[in-house]
Amino acid sequence: MNILIFLIAFAIFIYLLTLALRLKTWVRSMRHDIYNIRDELSTFKRSNEKANAKILTAASNIAAESVNASCINSLGFEFPVFMGGPSIDTHHARNLLFLLQERKPQAILELGSGSSTIIIARALQLMGASPNRHISVDHEERFLNNTKELARLNSVDELIQFEYCPLQPEDGFPHPWYSRIPALAGSLKFDFVLIDGPPAYEDGLGRTREPALTVLRPYLADNAVIILDDANRVGEQNVVKAWQEKYPEFSLYHATEGKGVAIFTLGA
Ligand SMILES: C[S@@+](CC[C@H](N)C(=O)[O-])C[C@H]1O[C@@H](n2cnc3c(N)ncnc32)[C@H](O)[C@@H]1O
Repeated sequence: MNILIFLIAFAIFIYLLTLALRLKTWVRSMRHDIYNIRDELSTFKRSNEKANAKILTAASNIAAESVNASCINSLGFEFPVFMGGPSIDTHHARNLLFLLQERKPQAILELGSGSSTIIIARALQLMGASPNRHISVDHEERFLNNTKELARLNSVDELIQFEYCPLQPEDGFPHPWYSRIPALAGSLKFDFVLIDGPPAYEDGLGRTREPALTVLRPYLADNAVIILDDANRVGEQNVVKAWQEKYPEFSLYHATEGKGVAIFTLGA
């Protein structure tokens, strides 16, 4: 009888022990799951915060774009001048207007004609500070003619010298660049250069604009400002790095809003 009681008690003990062990394993795995959920929640929270920050930046960029656009419209265009897309964006236009007001340049060179050409000419006209020369270059006759027409419709065509400069191989660089630039410059010293061409958005063409500073260096005034559009792209960032190494005499300001502009200044 005693043995029977002992066996029953022993069986109950084993059963309870197994139950306790199972409970322990279960509690451990629950704890593990809770830690995992907590980690996932904090990862989610972090990525949510990042996404929110991105949305906020995008929203404030859009708001700034529309304020910029309405300010730029006060230049009083007689025919619409579009910004964004292949043209400079409104952040760039705002930077341009600021620089033009500050510097009132006398010799302007634009590589890549378009909306920027009209904005520059019109702004300086309104300021009563039209330059001695404003050369607007394009490697595509069709786009040069479009810009000429846009300039005529906005009554600034006579303030601009339009030049067709097809691309040609450029010594020391892998991609073709504008022909005729040294001949066009002649004895001019440019104090304002806008580099928005050749197009550099296609794969493998990221450094297409790199020859600009090498070719133009002898034709720059002591106080020249060089503006490179699309400076947030990887290709242009590589160009900026290469120019900084090769031409340490320039100071650099990178305005990151929108497509980004890199502004190189001499004598600052
Ligand atoms: C970035 S765009 C120059 C834009 C110009 N600075 C402006 O603000 O409108 C560079 C070159 O792309 C070409 N281009 C202009 N409009 C274009 C379009 N809608 N599609 C493709 N290429 C264009 C022209 O040859 C131009 O010189």
